[in-house]
Amino acid sequence: MAQGALPGFRDFYPAEFAQRAYIARVWREVARRYAFVEYDGPPLEPLDLYTKKSGDEIVGQLYNFTDKGGREVALRPEMTPTLARMVAARANALRKPVRWFSLPQLFRYERQQKGRLREHFQLNVDIIGESDVTADAELLAVAIDIMGEFGLSPADVRARVSDRRLLRALLHRLGVSEAQLPGVFAVIDKIERQPREVSAEKMAAAGMTVESREALFALMDGVTLEALRARYGDTPDIAERIADLERYYGYLDDLGVASWVQLDLSIVRGLAYYTGIVFELFDAQGEFRAICGGGRYDNLLNALGGVELPALGFGMGDVVLGELLRSRGLADAPLGEPDFWVAATENGDLRDVLLAATRLRRAGASVEYALRPQSVSKQRKAAFSAGATYFVTVGAGFRENDGVEIDEVQRVEGAGASLVDRLASMPRTLASVISLVRDS
Ligand code: HAM
Repeated sequence: MAQGALPGFRDFYPAEFAQRAYIARVWREVARRYAFVEYDGPPLEPLDLYTKKSGDEIVGQLYNFTDKGGREVALRPEMTPTLARMVAARANALRKPVRWFSLPQLFRYERQQKGRLREHFQLNVDIIGESDVTADAELLAVAIDIMGEFGLSPADVRARVSDRRLLRALLHRLGVSEAQLPGVFAVIDKIERQPREVSAEKMAAAGMTVESREALFALMDGVTLEALRARYGDTPDIAERIADLERYYGYLDDLGVASWVQLDLSIVRGLAYYTGIVFELFDAQGEFRAICGGGRYDNLLNALGGVELPALGFGMGDVVLGELLRSRGLADAPLGEPDFWVAATENGDLRDVLLAATRLRRAGASVEYALRPQSVSKQRKAAFSAGATYFVTVGAGFRENDGVEIDEVQRVEGAGASLVDRLASMPRTLASVISLVRDS
């Protein structure tokens, strides 16, 4: 029996590859509009790049091994440490702010479930060297514009935004000490996925009183900036964070994406290095896992490369996004069907087919033909099943007079005047077909 791919790994047959390529095309197009430039790094990195700062969850999922030179290495589970390393290494030479994007394939040994595989492609968009919330707004606008470009709307996708510094200040106000914070953050990270009693028990175990637990639950239930200001605005560092978030919302409004965004303090992000505004994109029905996640990580470049540079970014995987697009009928991607199928008539010559195909290809068209002599009807069927748009036949006299016959194989719905229509008033020669191809 033929062997399948490893669990959590995908074979990309052309239909699946076309969808992957479509997603990548949209990612690149929107990144370009926002003037981000593409980079890449190695798929294999030193193990300690991840064990230092990414946090236990991702370290537990590493594909790591000792290489033949005795080095401890890991397949990249995320791009951010590589980016931090690369930028830190050339921190002085790079124009700032750095606006880079990448489309790495990442590897995590996860429990397989809906939306989670052991490899995925992840768009990474990051800005390095700007600490103001203008950068946070610019970044979120990229993620949201990508949703729009796929045909999704604010009714399909919500951007849920929080701020770790605001949450930390609020928790301090509720009496949570610095030492208790990691435990409480971990409970908040799971608050949506577990029963309230379980969260309450864990909060109690992390040292929170009954009153502070109730206040925290209230904060998690869709609180607004106005309500926060009214209740906690008398604490200076909370007021400062609220003012920043208000400015951030103003910028999101100017960037045309505010209607997608909501404040949600239950978003803390699983990775350990985030320091400020964090966000995740979810489908509005809550059917799928996070489409995208990111935020500010102002200390990571210092921790991994010894340079002080504020940074922020997001990762958007192709798996959940692909599931969402397919469920909404938005994943149609052309397979790359040929423009022309060139065929020889019964008394025609296969070599004339090659000659005609070559001339069409050099004019920029995609062309296929039967690789062995076949009847015209068989060739027509082959053209149809290949999805070719035009069927061009070359007959016995082709070399002397350049004459061809051309028919439509598939009429593309809604398309304008076809090549065949435009040829009506021209001589049926390959030269006329080529001149029309060149014009289109
Ligand atoms: P992350 O939240 O771990 O963040 O991943 C970002 C996105 O990648 C997720 O929302 C999800 O769509 C996708 N993803 C992650 N793991 C898997 C998986 N096993 N299977 C399928 N899809 C997956 C990061 O990785 C951060 N480094 C992002 C970032 C960039 N932060 C700043 N810059």
